[in-house]
Amino acid sequence: MKILAIESSCDETAVSVVENGRVVLADCIASQVELHRIYGGVVPEIASRKHIEAIYSLANEALERAAVSRDEIDAIAVTYAPGLIGAVLVGVNFGKAMALALNKPLIPVHHIRGHIAANYIAFPELEPPFICLVVSGGHTMIVDVRDYTNMEILGGTLDDAAGECFDKVARVLGMPYPGGAALDRAACNGNAEKYFLPRAKAGVNPYDMSFSGLKTAALNLIHHADQIGEPLDIPDLCASFSCAVSDTLIPRLMLAAEKSGYGKIAIAGGVAANSRIREDILASAEEIGVQVFLPPLSLCGDNASMIGAQAYYEFLSGNTAEMSLNAYATKSIIGEQL
Ligand code: KG4
Ligand code: ZN
Repeated sequence: MKILAIESSCDETAVSVVENGRVVLADCIASQVELHRIYGGVVPEIASRKHIEAIYSLANEALERAAVSRDEIDAIAVTYAPGLIGAVLVGVNFGKAMALALNKPLIPVHHIRGHIAANYIAFPELEPPFICLVVSGGHTMIVDVRDYTNMEILGGTLDDAAGECFDKVARVLGMPYPGGAALDRAACNGNAEKYFLPRAKAGVNPYDMSFSGLKTAALNLIHHADQIGEPLDIPDLCASFSCAVSDTLIPRLMLAAEKSGYGKIAIAGGVAANSRIREDILASAEEIGVQVFLPPLSLCGDNASMIGAQAYYEFLSGNTAEMSLNAYATKSIIGEQL
């Protein structure tokens, strides 16, 4: 089954053609990152307009690269939630138009379910159940992926997402948007023990976490050093910060892995590209004897192939949409999807 998948929930317009949820025939992305950089973050209105400009030619490009005609496409998939609402609406409307024009089924895909499914492309042998750490710009949670479309959120951040904290700290350090990757690079040769930053406990659920205290502590440290004219060691600070984020995530992920008994951990979302987090997961998983799936960096950030991968399994479980499909700024990955 060949699915043409569309992703437009933030600042990347993306269209892919994916076969049977696992094989990418084409993966096209038009990134708006450069455009938003001068504003220090995504400007929703501009994002929507740029999606509209890019999406038609990107869809044609994807079909061309996949060497697949419109008639050979079996279904259209689209991210319908969550995201910047104007941006998501562009993809949803385009997906509907294509599905209607080609008389093909329309498959609504949750963006975060898509991030998890990026692992099915990277690892053809991976099948649920497994535990997945989802760490993106807006989400941080530990998910029990019982089946392709049946999951449970074991716990997650009670306040800020990990990606949001990376971006905020990077921004205050003068790094260009989106700062997570730049902070990661700066941390490479840093001493992670130089600056003390807190690792918060959050509530009674052992899988819940909190990042707002860590973010505030890092920002206070930077502002204080600035006020008293004390030079900061940027690589050391970035390494200390990355280490604090990792120390918050990893023990909870390992606990979930051990308790589940699945023996398999995957990781998903833009922050899954973080080198410290990747290293720490590998080391901790080895200690407890659990298999780890770390998707390549190209599949961690937003792309449409992950949407095409998840769409296949949504279709198999009967999740298709009518032409009345709407877009949602927020939506849980669990339960009925529409
Ligand atoms: O999944 P994603 O591409 O978009 C959302 O769905 O949010 O995640 C974007 C987030 C941004 O916060 C970005 O700074 C962060 O992922 N990110 C990183 C790294 N690469 C991207 N954070 C830490 N280290 C990285 N190497
Ligand atoms: Zn994303």
